[in-house]
Parts: sequence; structure tokens; C-alpha cells
Amino acid sequence: MTIPGLREQYLEAMGIPVWVQRHAANPEPPADEVQLVRAPGAPGHQRAVDWRELQEEVRTCIKCALHQGRTQTVFGAGSRTADLLIIGEAPGAEEDRRGEPFVGRAGQLLNAMLAAIHLAREDVYIANILKCRPPNNRDPKSDEAATCTPYLQRQIELLQPRVILALGRIAAQWLLQSDAPIGRLRGRTFEYGAGATPLVVSYHPAYLLRSPLAKSKSWEDLKVVKRLLRTPE
Ligand code: URA
Repeated sequence: MTIPGLREQYLEAMGIPVWVQRHAANPEPPADEVQLVRAPGAPGHQRAVDWRELQEEVRTCIKCALHQGRTQTVFGAGSRTADLLIIGEAPGAEEDRRGEPFVGRAGQLLNAMLAAIHLAREDVYIANILKCRPPNNRDPKSDEAATCTPYLQRQIELLQPRVILALGRIAAQWLLQSDAPIGRLRGRTFEYGAGATPLVVSYHPAYLLRSPLAKSKSWEDLKVVKRLLRTPE
């Protein structure tokens, strides 16, 4: 006999996020629309550290080889009471130099995208999957992402955002534990983690700089984010 919801309760008690496509028309959607995923990088912190402790843990982290090449870690920036959490991939050269996410050219475009939905950078929280810059801006390796993810998971727990926006293929695929192309992940709203936080996928601003025609799709995604932020829980 299957007790409805029991499996989800177990998974959540084990710290394993469950995400499903939001607003699925069918109460029993097809298998490819409902997916249970292991939390990337789980288990997270054994002890619930606060922002200050977490920041210090990240600052001094030597859990993977990336610490050898960094100037400094890039913890995250913005309001710790933000409703919107934006998650990118990893620091680039400028972020590594300044210790803040999305401060290069892609960051300037991100600021403009936020302004288009009447949000300032200071109103949101911005973090990355990786806290250290990969050499030559290569893609994060999955063991690096797994090692770093407990930090992000704790940031999510502390922040309790109302909406998560995953920018780019790397962040989206990692958070959703999917290998689907970004074109298939955007345009839908997922529920992320134990809190079933609405998660929207959009293009990375660095991609938009190279492919400005994709900006209209990105705008559609931002409007979804704005709508979700306005919707009371
Ligand atoms: N790209 C990212 O994904 N994150 C940053 O912080 C900067 C560029």
C-alpha cells in the first residue's frame, strides 16, 4: 500500500529536495514532468550555521582544488531578506578580483534586467553554484559543484526566498539535476527543495551579450519572476 505523500516526507526529512513542475494540469502528470532529485551536494551542514559563520566557512574553504587559484572567495551579495534569489554559475575574473558576484559585463546586464522589473541589485540576493573561480573560466566540474553546494543550500535555508531564478545552463542543470538543454528548462516553473520554492530558469546574461536575440525570451522569464513575486503564497 502506498500512503500518499509519505515518500516525499521521507525525502524531505533526509534533506533531499523534491521538485515538480508547478501548475501541472494533470494531478498525475507524465513521468517526465515530475522528477524527484537528490539534493546536489547533499548532505548539507550538520549544524545550522548562521550567516556570519557560513561566510567565514566559505572564506577559509579549502575543500576543493579551486582554492589554490582564487584571489578570494565570492560568497554572495545583496539583501539577506530578499524575496528573489538569483543563482549563477561561478565567479569570473572580475568577481574573483572584487569578491562580489556578477560585477563584470554580465553583471551590468543583470542589473539592467533587474531594473526592467523594477528591482535594484540591492533588493535581491545573488549567489553562484561555485564560490571560487574556475581556471580560465572553464565550466564547473560536478565534484566541485557537489563540494560547494552545501554552502548554497545553507544560503537558501537562511534566506528562504520566495522565488529562485537560475541563470544559465550550468546553474539550471545542477539545481534541477537535469541534463535537459536550457531551452527545455526555461518557460516552466519548477518547485525547488523542501520548501517547494518556485524556480525559474533563464539565459545567462553572458549568453545574452553574445546572442541579443535571446533577450526577448529572457524578458518573458523575467515577467514570470515578477508575477511570482507578486503572488502571495
Ligand atoms: N557569471 C556567473 O555565473 N556568476 C558570476 O558571478 C559572474 C559571471
